[in-house]
Amino acid sequence: MKKIYLLYPQKKGRIAPELYGHFTEHLGGVFYDGLWVGKDSSIPNIKGFRKEIIEKLRAIKAPVIRWPGGCFAETYDWRDGIGEHRPTRPNWWTKNDKRYESNEVGTHEFMDFCEAVGADAYFAANLTSVSPLHIRNWMDYCLSPRGTTSLALEREQNGHPEPFTIPYWGVGNENWGGGGNMTPEYYAGEFRRFSALMANAFPSVQLFACGEDANDFHWTNKLMEGTVDSEHHMNGYAMHYYCGQAGDPLTFSKDEWTCLLKQAAHIEDIIVRNWHIICGYSMQNCGKLVIDEWGCWHSDGSGPSHGYNLFEQQSTMRDAMVAALTLNIFNNHCDKIRMANVAQLVNCLHSLFLAGGEHCIETPTYHVFDMYKEHQGAEAIEATVTDNDDFASSISVSASVKDEKTLLTVGNLSCTGDVEILLEGVGKTIPAEAQATLLYAEDMHAHNTFETPEAVTPTAVHIDPARPFVIPKAAILAIRF
Ligand code: AHR
Repeated sequence: MKKIYLLYPQKKGRIAPELYGHFTEHLGGVFYDGLWVGKDSSIPNIKGFRKEIIEKLRAIKAPVIRWPGGCFAETYDWRDGIGEHRPTRPNWWTKNDKRYESNEVGTHEFMDFCEAVGADAYFAANLTSVSPLHIRNWMDYCLSPRGTTSLALEREQNGHPEPFTIPYWGVGNENWGGGGNMTPEYYAGEFRRFSALMANAFPSVQLFACGEDANDFHWTNKLMEGTVDSEHHMNGYAMHYYCGQAGDPLTFSKDEWTCLLKQAAHIEDIIVRNWHIICGYSMQNCGKLVIDEWGCWHSDGSGPSHGYNLFEQQSTMRDAMVAALTLNIFNNHCDKIRMANVAQLVNCLHSLFLAGGEHCIETPTYHVFDMYKEHQGAEAIEATVTDNDDFASSISVSASVKDEKTLLTVGNLSCTGDVEILLEGVGKTIPAEAQATLLYAEDMHAHNTFETPEAVTPTAVHIDPARPFVIPKAAILAIRF
């Protein structure tokens, strides 16, 4: 038996709702035939976007959505996506006959989507292939009050008199790689150049600098060193972490189950190490972490388009467990992280939805976001576990309190053994009544398909949290009391 101690007096800080954020890129099947079906489609839509997805995102309280990339952002010209006549451009982040970007979805359409979902927008600005003035103009177009600038007038003529609300702007994407192949020293200079114009023109926006990938702490160090003496326009340090793959996405072995979870758990070390570097430069007040791409990255071809959509993959119980584990880590480090965006929302890497034509299904990962949603905005408390050192048979936990209710989320990382749990409250007695939801499938490879959309769905379970209870192997439990 493992004991989970809920240490109520040991508060860790507020879990920013934005830790449960999303990412949508003009890549593969994310937009066209994924999110976007067009206003004239027979598929139920709200201003061209799949109604079903909008409703399901509202249900999980999706707080923020990043757009238009990713790598795509670094060749994106915002002018292509406004007005009546939209040029078609090459899009390297697609394959087959999708290699062209029609620009049907641009600034106005994406903002319609955010409004329908009730989420904030996070725009990723191109730093590689346009000038700071070009980005300043995009901000002017989006944010200037009605009746002020010529670009505000153009926005009005395009149907949106009032400014858009876009609180977050990324200054580049992966500039160590696809975004210009820069050194950290060079990027630090570019960040200073772009952010000075962006922040001076619109001081209320939050600017996020391009951070490192995986274990590149050299990038973090050099970027902090190169920006620490500038005016502090950095409101977030946006790093990426993909835990990658281990074996086949659908037929992985038991060892590969554990291997992928271990790779996912490594994000905790990366969070802590980056945070220490940032604090070492006293940048913690301006540079909290933004993990604006995270998730599994399996080989292409396991999704319903059979490889037609670039990067599209299926999402099994193992991917759901990666999400559960990662979100628990984010909750437990909520003092260091201000936003995180799982990559990507539909028909892509670690997706919440798979869609095509009239089909649209939730993946098991969607259900994790649903089960965890009450952590958003809650106060995280310390939750410690006894006898939890052997990774393959360990559990992942986080706990938070909101409106005097505790939400405890637990992933049983063992794919072979059930685990017995006893809760012990410190500073508060554990009551005998709870609402509990379990995400479990007998087969750890279980996943939803267009033909069997409910192979993996959560079920309500009866648990008395004041007494020992069992979590089945490879299952995720959310318990609220
Ligand atoms: O999410 C897919 C790609 O992964 C993004 O375009 C890029 O930022 C990252 O390398």
